[in-house]
Amino acid sequence: MEKIQQVQQQALDQIEACTDLQQLQQIRITTLGKKGSISSLMTMMKDLPATEKPAFGQQVNDCKKTVSAALEKKQTLLEKEALDRQLQQEKIDITLPGTALRSGTLHPLTLVRQEIEDLFIGMGYTVAEGPEVELDFYNFERANIPADHPARDMQDTFYINPQVLLRTHTTAIQMRELEKAQGRLPIKVICPGKVYRRDDDDATHSHQFMQAEGLVVDENITLTDLKGTLQFMADRMFGKGRQIRFRPSYFQFTEPSVEVDVSCHLCGGKGCPVCKGTGWIEVLGAGMVHPHVLDMAGFDSSACSGFAFGVGLERVAMLKYGIDDIRNFYINDTRFLKMFDRFD
Ligand code: PHE
Repeated sequence: MEKIQQVQQQALDQIEACTDLQQLQQIRITTLGKKGSISSLMTMMKDLPATEKPAFGQQVNDCKKTVSAALEKKQTLLEKEALDRQLQQEKIDITLPGTALRSGTLHPLTLVRQEIEDLFIGMGYTVAEGPEVELDFYNFERANIPADHPARDMQDTFYINPQVLLRTHTTAIQMRELEKAQGRLPIKVICPGKVYRRDDDDATHSHQFMQAEGLVVDENITLTDLKGTLQFMADRMFGKGRQIRFRPSYFQFTEPSVEVDVSCHLCGGKGCPVCKGTGWIEVLGAGMVHPHVLDMAGFDSSACSGFAFGVGLERVAMLKYGIDDIRNFYINDTRFLKMFDRFD
């Protein structure tokens, strides 16, 4: 019994003095291990008289338990200390400013283009594109503007040679789409893209700008369909409750032609500097596709009709975001572009 006491005390003293986990593991082996001090106590059993065996066995078991518990306790303590030490070493100052990842933003014209595309895709349109270096044929001839026609003066053109030019309007894409359809109905396309005109650049003019043009051709398409479509677009682009109005206008490829105004989204129609006190803002040109344009592209204009409209994307973006100089879109000043990240 004394021997047991002695072995137990020795083990507990070692555990008490132990300061690291590896050492503790070593103590576990030399005490509780197969050949450890406590296990070898059991071998003493065979020399004892039978009457003392149970009490001895009990005592060794208690000793085992006590040492086990002490090992366990020390283990937890040392682990906690190790963790505390690690946390202390790896401490970071969360009040230090981090290194920000600078990410790009979509260009405001891309935002407006996507918005227009999305709203028309939602109404079953497909998006069509075409070449910026275009044939005079699609830009003018097919749009009912023959050579030497005075209407060509309305769109000062960059010619590459007498037959090839930089397209002056996205109407050229429409003319290609009409031809592609080979007389099949219906046609419902939205055509966004860059266009070019020989304008002197200033706050409201640019020799390169963007348009999106819509075209619908089917049986019984009327001016009312155009009006409903544009009303929907005005509500979506400039906020619910906008009013639209048509004013007579002239385009060679539409008849009748209209200029479309939207009630001012800033003053609600009362009059302000943006709408120049009129309560209305001119946003697009539109009309019913001229029968001759349909016939030239292989449709029977007595059996179908269509509407078309064209909107300037810079103008829409300037109105929506309150931008007062069109040149801001092209100089790529990141301070300007950065302002649109919240609209992504
Ligand atoms: N193509 C015309 C322009 O650039 C706009 C327009 C498109 C007008 C479609 C009517 C129909 O000014």
